[in-house]
Amino acid sequence: MDNNFDLIVIGSGPGGYVCAIRAAQLGLKTACVEESKTLGGTCLNVGCIPSKSLLNSSELFHKAQTEFNGIGIEFSKLKLNLQKAMERKKKSVFNLTKGIEYLFKKNKVTHLKGKGMILDKNIVKVVDFSANETEYKTKNIVVATGSVPTSLPGINIDEKNIVSSTGAISFDEVPKKLIVIGGGYIGLELSSVWKRFGSDVTVIEFLDHIIPGMDNDISSEFLKILNKQGIKFFLDTKVTGVSLAKGKAVVDTTNNKNAKRERIECDKVLVAVGRKPNIGKDILDLDIKLDKQEKISVNEKFQTSVSNIFAIGDIINKGPMLAHKAEDEGIAVAEIIAGQAGHVNYNVIPAVIYTSPEVAMVGKTENELKKENINYTVGKFPFLANSRAKVNNETEGFVKILADEKTDKVLGVSMISSMAGTMIAELALAMEFGASAEDIARTCHAHPTHSEAVKEAAMAVDKRPIHF
Ligand code: NAI
Repeated sequence: MDNNFDLIVIGSGPGGYVCAIRAAQLGLKTACVEESKTLGGTCLNVGCIPSKSLLNSSELFHKAQTEFNGIGIEFSKLKLNLQKAMERKKKSVFNLTKGIEYLFKKNKVTHLKGKGMILDKNIVKVVDFSANETEYKTKNIVVATGSVPTSLPGINIDEKNIVSSTGAISFDEVPKKLIVIGGGYIGLELSSVWKRFGSDVTVIEFLDHIIPGMDNDISSEFLKILNKQGIKFFLDTKVTGVSLAKGKAVVDTTNNKNAKRERIECDKVLVAVGRKPNIGKDILDLDIKLDKQEKISVNEKFQTSVSNIFAIGDIINKGPMLAHKAEDEGIAVAEIIAGQAGHVNYNVIPAVIYTSPEVAMVGKTENELKKENINYTVGKFPFLANSRAKVNNETEGFVKILADEKTDKVLGVSMISSMAGTMIAELALAMEFGASAEDIARTCHAHPTHSEAVKEAAMAVDKRPIHF
């Protein structure tokens, strides 16, 4: 094999593999190095995809238990087969990771198997699975090595009793009692999975609200919904220690307000307090500049402090740690390296929590607009007044649109709905085109659909919703 490339991408997560394919499409001789046996990174192997498989299985199981009888689907002897649910999850992961192998072949991306290390700005060494070392020359490098879970001081994640998301998507039996530390994306999605499969779940959150960064209305409504589903919450509570005793885990907490201490025994503890960039020793040796949070600093062209070494995804100091953000950066950086004008609009990155109902947002929250002294109007519409949601018994949640008070331009949208993750795309598109709330209000939305709530919320910005 010719060991000279135009571009070597390190890491094959959603950022890396998408970047490699786009670069190859643009005629660059491209390789992608991956240290795991399968392509796809955290998202495909132990993140977005397997968790969504379990979310879907557990949601259907829960619905069968609680709703089917009421809608005329009667049966007896409903039983969970967790092993089968896990096999289904593995199959989905297998098929999708194989899909990337196929796409690499189709686009002529060379898949370098092993751990990639940058020796200097034009040389990447790959140590393969048999410890053989090969050096490759390249004009450009894109670092897309993603992130790893963080823990708390003194808490040792063993992936058995004290687990990260990786362990929590592979339990071989339903834990009787599960404690989840962190009320963010991972904590709440996996709390939902195990609650629906039958666990007694308690979430411990340091702040006085869940899903920090989302709109306050959404956060408080979502808390009510999850409480109703039986998930318990200790808010404003600090975890001071987690220990193991006789096969059980013991979690010590202190309430931030009244200093009240509690000790909770459980079977498993999920630590979901965030992720940190996966920075290799090679990056440190090359003196590539990091910011205060130890993320790689990049300019608007995704260049690091070494001009032909680029970085994208969870590892950089821009945007949220989300797979689709990394994908867009992957495309943009490939286009920039190929001499085109790649660009990512960080003001319009949707975020979704895939619980039931789902939570989604794009653009600004009310808090952010207040901080930036931007005057805005609010249009809100509840799913309780949406005919399709009523028919489907999916009346929880609402759509909330924030529009500029003067220009009516949509500045941000948040929603809770069974369909929120899919519906938010309309709003992202509207915002990309600089739409006003009136533009959305005057766009014909099919009836009966959940999306009509978006149109009605847009009409509510001008205080003229029809159905509420
Ligand atoms: P997160 O940042 O979403 O949430 C962490 C939560 O832990 C926060 O609410 C924080 O206040 C809390 N916390 C921090 N220290 C704590 C402590 N000592 N005690 C109690 N609570 C504490 O992080 P998470 O859920 O671990 O997810 C990591 C990353 O993965 C996020 O950046 C997220 O964007 C991404 N992700 C995205 C998903 C999606 O798009 N649906 C799904 C899963 C992960």
